[in-house]
Parts: sequence; C-alpha cells; structure tokens
Amino acid sequence: MKLAMVNDKFVPIENLDPIYYDRGLYFGDGVYEVLRSYNGKLFALDEHMERFAASMAAIRITGVDIRDVRERVERAFKATGLPNVKIYCHVTRGSAPRNHVWDSHLKPNFLLIVSEVKDHPEEKARGIAVCTHPDLRWKRCDIKSLNLLPNVLARQYAFEKGCDEAILVNEAGYITEGTSSAFFGIARGALQTAPLSANILPSITRKFVVKAATNVGMPIEECCLTPKQAAAADELFLAVTTKDIVPVVKFDDATIGNGTPGPLTKALTTEFLKFTR
Ligand code: PDD
Repeated sequence: MKLAMVNDKFVPIENLDPIYYDRGLYFGDGVYEVLRSYNGKLFALDEHMERFAASMAAIRITGVDIRDVRERVERAFKATGLPNVKIYCHVTRGSAPRNHVWDSHLKPNFLLIVSEVKDHPEEKARGIAVCTHPDLRWKRCDIKSLNLLPNVLARQYAFEKGCDEAILVNEAGYITEGTSSAFFGIARGALQTAPLSANILPSITRKFVVKAATNVGMPIEECCLTPKQAAAADELFLAVTTKDIVPVVKFDDATIGNGTPGPLTKALTTEFLKFTR
C-alpha cells in the first residue's frame, strides 16, 4: 500500500500535488539564476543566460532551451511594468517518485519569480559588518545549484551575530566568497579577489567590478586572502547582482579603514553604475 501524509493529513497518493514529487525538493536537484534590471533595462542578460545554461549543462539537465528562458524572463519583466526588479529563475530536473537515478525523459520544472528590488542607500553609505564562517560547501561551487544549506546555515549564523553576511573560509584557511556574494579587498591601491575556480561562483557582478577597476586604472590581483589579510585591508566590499557593490566596514572584530566606506570602493561603485545605464 502507498500512503502519503502532508503535514498531519493523509493524502491519497493519486491526489498528491505533483510539487511533492519535484526532485528539487528531495535532492536539491536543480539550478537557479538571479538577474536584475536597472531603470527599465535588464542588466547583463547575456551573461546570466550563459551562466544558467552552463549550470544546467554541468548537472546534465537537458530539455530546457535557454532561448525560451530568455523569452520568459523578458516577458515576465515586461508584465510587471516595474523599472527595478530582481528575477529568480529555478529549474529542477523534474518530478518523479523518489529515486537517486533519474529518468532521462523527465521534463524539467521551471519557476520564475519577479519582484521589485529595493536599493539600500543607507547600507552603501554606512557599510556593513561581516563575520567569517567555515566554508562547508561541496567541491563544485561554480555551479549555481539549489543546494544552499551550508550557505543558509552560515548566513543565519551571521544574522544572529548581528552581521549582514558570512564570509566563507575553506579548510586551507583562505576566503572563498560570501554565502551569496563575491568578496573583494583593496590593499595598496590594488583590487584583490579570489581567482575563478570550482570553489566560487563565477559572479557576474565580479566580472563588471573587474572591468570597472580596469577602467579606473586600478591594478587587479587575483589572489586568495586569509581572514588576517582581509582584516588588515584598506577597504573591503561585497558584490552581488541584487545589490551591486556593498562596502564592508567591519570584518569579525576588525574595523576596516576608519570604519566608513573607502574612497576606492566609492570610485568603483560610480564606475560600475555606468555599465547599468
Ligand atoms: N547570489 N557567490 C555566491 C555563492 C552567490 O550566491 C552569489 C549570488 C554571488 C554573486 O554572483 P552574482 O554577481 O552573479 O550575483 C557570489 C544570488 C544573487 C542569490 O543567490 O540570491
């Protein structure tokens, strides 16, 4: 006999909502992408679609035409009529009774959510506090996978400490990235960030930050920082699609610079925002 119970209610198996068969629910078997618009224009759409396609290919989800995804993103964006939105797109491998092995004929499930993105000028003006946390994630952090449990736990840890982000530190003692952001230092006038590898997400914002640094003549050092080096940096900041550049003024117990956002972070932000126009 087959039986299902949802919360405390029995549900005849034939009436069980297909959502409960989604492999995303059982296994986190899916990937996602996040992009945003600035003033009525989607930012870096090509780059986001390229990374989404790469994430799907990396976990062998086939049967999603990225041109359809792009068309849905554009249609949903238009339908909101809002100038500044964030768009979350999720693709799971599909729905089927629980089995680690998948059926190659499964039809992927697609979920898109658009919502207004609110900028937080006070956060940019004041800067944020971050704390370090062990990087407990898997070895393919370059894939934008739905498996975010280590990120969620680390972020909650930060929140409960009164911090806005947790900065992940791997077993070798080096900073990889934030739970949902790329991480940057500025020392001796140079921009420092971890090189792209399987240990971090190839952040789209990072790509434009590096471009902005090149435009303002700032040298770029791709290197892995230790928490000690980060705490001693002249400036620190995070980069993420939904917030672009966010200055960091406290790193664990260390105050960064004079405790307010630094001039080079501000210069990079000004340069970055030119790309969004
Ligand atoms: N987070 N690193 C991680 C682990 C991330 O989850 C993100 C993005 C980034 C920055 O990537 P990008 O510049 O492409 O946004 C780096 C998204 C926004 C999220 O999961 O909500």
